[in-house]
Amino acid sequence: MNFQKHILVTGGAGFIGSHVVRRLVKNYPDYLVVNLDKLTYAGNLENLQDIDQASNYRFERADICDAAALKRIFESHQITDVIHLAAESHVDRSIEGPMEFVMTNVVGTVQLLQAARAAWGKESGHVFHHVSTDEVYGSLGDTGLFEETTPYDPRSPYSASKASSDHFVRAYYHTYGLPIKMSNCSNNYGSHHFPEKLIPLMIHNIINEKPLPVYGKGDNIRDWLWVEDHASAIDTIFHKGRLGESYNVGGLNEWTNIELVHFLCQLMDDKLGRAAGSAAGLITYVQDRAGHDKRYAIDATKLETELGWKPSITFEQGLNNTVDWYLNNQDWVAKVTSGAYQTYYEQMYANR
Ligand code: NAD
Ligand code: TYD
Repeated sequence: MNFQKHILVTGGAGFIGSHVVRRLVKNYPDYLVVNLDKLTYAGNLENLQDIDQASNYRFERADICDAAALKRIFESHQITDVIHLAAESHVDRSIEGPMEFVMTNVVGTVQLLQAARAAWGKESGHVFHHVSTDEVYGSLGDTGLFEETTPYDPRSPYSASKASSDHFVRAYYHTYGLPIKMSNCSNNYGSHHFPEKLIPLMIHNIINEKPLPVYGKGDNIRDWLWVEDHASAIDTIFHKGRLGESYNVGGLNEWTNIELVHFLCQLMDDKLGRAAGSAAGLITYVQDRAGHDKRYAIDATKLETELGWKPSITFEQGLNNTVDWYLNNQDWVAKVTSGAYQTYYEQMYANR
C-alpha cells in the first residue's frame, strides 16, 4: 500500500507516545506510523496491544542516540515526518542521575535532528514536531501564566535537558531551515501512566493501602491535562501549526498537590467501597523534592484561537476514567512495576 505520510513517532511505547501512536494509527489509515522506542523502564509494548497488528503500524527498537540506527530507519521506512516524544521524563530520576537525561533528551534529540536533516535536505512538505514541556519556563509565583514568549528558566536537570533540546530544535530551523514545530504542555494524566508520577503513584498506593508520599507541605501547584487531549493537541499542531512556531498546551486546571490527593482519596474510597477517610489516612508528608518548582500554569490561548483546539473533558471526568482504567488493568500495573522498577521504587520511596 502507498501511504500518504510515513511518520516516525519516537517514544511511542511510553505514556503520551502510546496515546499519540494509537490516535494516528486509528484516525489516519493512510499514514504509516513507525514507532521508534528504546524500551527503557518507561516504555512498554503492552501499551499498544490493541493496535500493534494494524497494517499501518511498525515498531523499531532503537536508541535515538544511535546515529546509524536512525539513518537505517529513516531510509528503510522512507520517513517523511517526525513526532518526537522519546525522553527521560521523571524529575526525581533527573535529580538522582542527570547524565541519562543529557544523553537522551539533548544528545538524542540532536541526533534525530541530524537524521531528519540528512534525509530531507531542503525538500519541502516535511514536519519535525518536537514535544516538550512547560517546565522549561521555570516556576511561577502566585499569579500569571506561562506564555510562548515567557523566557526559559529551567530549574531541574529534567527541565534543563528539555530546554536545551528545545533550543537545538529552534536552532535547526533558523540555521538549516529544518521544518520544525514545537509544543510545550502542562502535566498530563490518564491511562498507561507509569506509576512513579504523582497521579498513578497515588492511585496505585491507595489500591494497595500503602503510604501516599506528599512532598513538602503539598502546596506546590500543577496544571493537569488529560493525556488524550494532549494527543489531540499534537495532532492539531502537527497538521495545522505554523512552521518554526511553538504552541503552549494546557487546560486551565490548577490544583495544589494536597487538594488533588484528597480529591483522589475521596473518589477512590467511593469506588472501592471503603469507609470515607480511609485513603486520606494514608497521606504521609515526606521530605521535599530538591529545587521543587512551586507552580506551573499554562496559557494555551494561541493554540485555541489560532488552531481551534480545546480540551474535550473536565478534570472530574478524566480522573474518573483514569481511576477506572487502573482498577481494571491491575495486570498492566503488575507487569510494568516488576523487575528493575521495583528496586528503584523501594529506594526512592521506602525511606521517605
Ligand atoms: P515516558 O517516560 O512515559 O515515555 C518515554 C518513552 O521514551 C519511553 O517509551 C522510553 O522507552 C522512550 N525512550 C527513552 N529514552 C529513549 C531513547 N534514548 N531512545 C528511544 N526511546 C527512548 O514519557 P511521557 O510522560 O510519555 O513523555 C513523553 C514526552 O512528552 C517527553 O518528551 C516529555 O518531556 C513530554 N512531556 C511530558 C509531560 C507529562 O506530563 N508526562 C508533559 C509535557 C511534555
Ligand atoms: P510529578 O508527577 O513527578 O510531575 P512533575 O514533577 O513533572 O510536575 O509530580 C507532580 C507534583 O507532585 C510535583 O509537585 C511533585 C509532587 N509529588 C509528590 O508530592 N509526591 C510524589 O510521590 C510524586 C511522584 C510527586
